[in-house]
Amino acid sequence: MTAHAFGKVILLGEHSVVHGRPALAAAVSPGVDAEATPSATDDGLALDVSPWDCRFRPADGSDLGRALGALGAALGVTSGHVRATVHLPGGGGMGSSAALGVATARALADLHGLALPVEALLAAALAWERVFHGNPSGVDHTLAALGGVGVYTRAHGLAPVPLRGALRLLLADSGERARTVDMVSGVARLHQRRPETTERTFDAIAALVRNAELALAAGDLRALGEFMNLNQALLAALMVSTERLEALCAAARTAGALGAKLTGAGGGGCVLALADTPEGESRVLSAWEALGATAFVTEVGA
Ligand code: PMV
Repeated sequence: MTAHAFGKVILLGEHSVVHGRPALAAAVSPGVDAEATPSATDDGLALDVSPWDCRFRPADGSDLGRALGALGAALGVTSGHVRATVHLPGGGGMGSSAALGVATARALADLHGLALPVEALLAAALAWERVFHGNPSGVDHTLAALGGVGVYTRAHGLAPVPLRGALRLLLADSGERARTVDMVSGVARLHQRRPETTERTFDAIAALVRNAELALAAGDLRALGEFMNLNQALLAALMVSTERLEALCAAARTAGALGAKLTGAGGGGCVLALADTPEGESRVLSAWEALGATAFVTEVGA
């Protein structure tokens, strides 16, 4: 059986969610598919990832190898050959690593005939995620496992937000990459150096998330776009934006987007924008392509 896990887009609230504040996030159906077969010579765990064309094993010294070992230990399995296909920009802020962990856990559980209650799935995926960034908020693997659209907090998990209809999101891959662990520890250092201002920034982002949740539930895209723009300014204050991300956000706004911001850990990765008409969407996508970015549209909450 092929196991699936969702990708995710953070609409608002990345980074502050690590520090206990809420994030508004949505699962996207391009994600990761995985299948597991018995290891040919019963020689432990192995993970082949396409299209990266790489094989990982627990003792190979790579992050993915170590994550596979941690996941296997959490599930109590020591063998199985997983073949996974990633349908997301790798390291682009769309939750590819968490989706890979969730799909791998499901495939291994299926191979070994293990019941995998959601708590056990989330615990195994958290063990996987900890290898990549010591202090994950949990938003990525929770969305990868559960899907849907909702407000996530470390304390309460995911609270679904009912939508009036499907929401179309415009995304552009900046082509730049930064490691999530480095971006998260950069914000943690800022927090240590300037605790009061950083806490105030987190609180301001939390207020935007709560307002964005209301706007989303009411179908008020104009307000949602405004909150995204304000969130982007606060992310820049947390030093996780880049010149290229700012240029892509500015180009989207000039082309008529209702709002634009980075999504995920920043330092590169993807930007996200909203438009309210098909013509508006085309203008934003063309503006991004003119800047050499790969642009695409995804729908959430359909
Ligand atoms: O870039 P991604 O897909 O790993 O998203 C990271 C989101 C952060 O809020 C920056 C980290 C976290 O654990 O929530």
